Amino acid sequence: MTTRWLGHRPIAKVFSNRFLLPQISRRIAPICQTWPCRNLASLNTPAADDTVEILGQRFPRDKNTNVTTTITAKTARLLHRQPNHPINILKRRIEAHFKNYKVVDSMNPAVTTQQNFDSLLFSADHPGRAPTDTYYINSNTVLRTHTSAHQSEVLKTREAEGYLLTADVYRRDEIDVSHYPVFHQMEGLRTFDRKNLEAEAVVNVAGTSIKGAVLSETNPVQLAHTTREAELVDQHLRHSLEGMVRDLFREEKDLEIRWIEAYFPFTSPSWEMEVLYRGSWLELLGCGVIQQKIMDDANNADRVGWAFGLGLERIAMVMFDIPDIRLFWSSDERFLSQFSSGQIVKFQPFSKYPACYKDVSFWCNQGFHDNDFAEIVRDVAGDMAEDVKLIDKFEHPKTKRVSRCFRINYRSMDRTCTNEEVDKIQDEVRRVAATTLGVELR
Ligand code: DAH
Repeated sequence: MTTRWLGHRPIAKVFSNRFLLPQISRRIAPICQTWPCRNLASLNTPAADDTVEILGQRFPRDKNTNVTTTITAKTARLLHRQPNHPINILKRRIEAHFKNYKVVDSMNPAVTTQQNFDSLLFSADHPGRAPTDTYYINSNTVLRTHTSAHQSEVLKTREAEGYLLTADVYRRDEIDVSHYPVFHQMEGLRTFDRKNLEAEAVVNVAGTSIKGAVLSETNPVQLAHTTREAELVDQHLRHSLEGMVRDLFREEKDLEIRWIEAYFPFTSPSWEMEVLYRGSWLELLGCGVIQQKIMDDANNADRVGWAFGLGLERIAMVMFDIPDIRLFWSSDERFLSQFSSGQIVKFQPFSKYPACYKDVSFWCNQGFHDNDFAEIVRDVAGDMAEDVKLIDKFEHPKTKRVSRCFRINYRSMDRTCTNEEVDKIQDEVRRVAATTLGVELR
């Protein structure tokens, strides 16, 4: 049983004494104004001094601010609403499947910690709250880390029985071809009148992947629910999701689906759905029966319901054969022109430009976190950084200090870069790491 952020590494990891990244954006000097990938100068605009601006709204900075303008700039992109973009094409496919669900796709990405964590019953010490994993705008406000952050407010409206809520979500993370600090999720919600559940929720599960009892010690029915209620909601949930996924992968005639018991603070029982795709099991979504306390708190005490959350990039990468997550952010016509509304086509790669590997080694302080270094690489190199790998780590036998060596793979998506250009960026990465993380370069 794992707790995890969907589509990302497990977060049930040791969390102690986390190092809070100082406000690096203000410390990075522009290195190369002609750099096409991003505008480093924007990191130093006066507005960045004591406020963080998100979609025109200003938030005061405080000691917990760790978001940079590289990240906040992405809030305006709204790829999920851009016609002919693969994320939008996939979003619309799923919306077309769930016909009567209300579509919500313009929620503000700046949410309170109450919305992102407390309303979903995350414990006070839940690792998801760690500043190494989450972008804090200030102590009370974060860039939403998942679309579940909006569950309560959407439920409170009582406008529909079902909702599909799509949004950009933000997580501090490692750097590689399938991880990007911003990605898109879709949250599905469906509620039923508790008094009329037998009629509203009953489905025929014969011939589906749903086998076995819901009841299990590790994946329990909530105290607030009868076994029959949980069974009905759970079967309606898995039946609906199986139908949606079979519709999405309609070319794969005998798609194999399996349900893995999961844990989320906001659902029970909870599941992850995996599909067997080209020989390997692919995790597509997390889901479960909504904790009744969330329903009660959201003015829905008379109803029971289910929820799911899925990562759109992960599915789009498979459906459109897109090999690198940075491509979704590309404004290169050679990428964008390949897709058009309503069509699932295979991406035809244009030539891959040469990679340039650079290593950096340093002695680390206590509390150093790999994500803090990744953030600096993101900030300095932007989308030039294809991946960052920890290739060596050792402890000095006498001083007990730990040395880490990271290998950065630089590769532009749209041109060949010179070694000199990359050297400049690498020098800046080294400089910023030394000054903001307090590491000692080797
Ligand atoms: N919010 C979860 C995540 O980002 C995904 C998720 C799991 C959403 C279960 C749900 C759910 O609504 O019921 O990892």
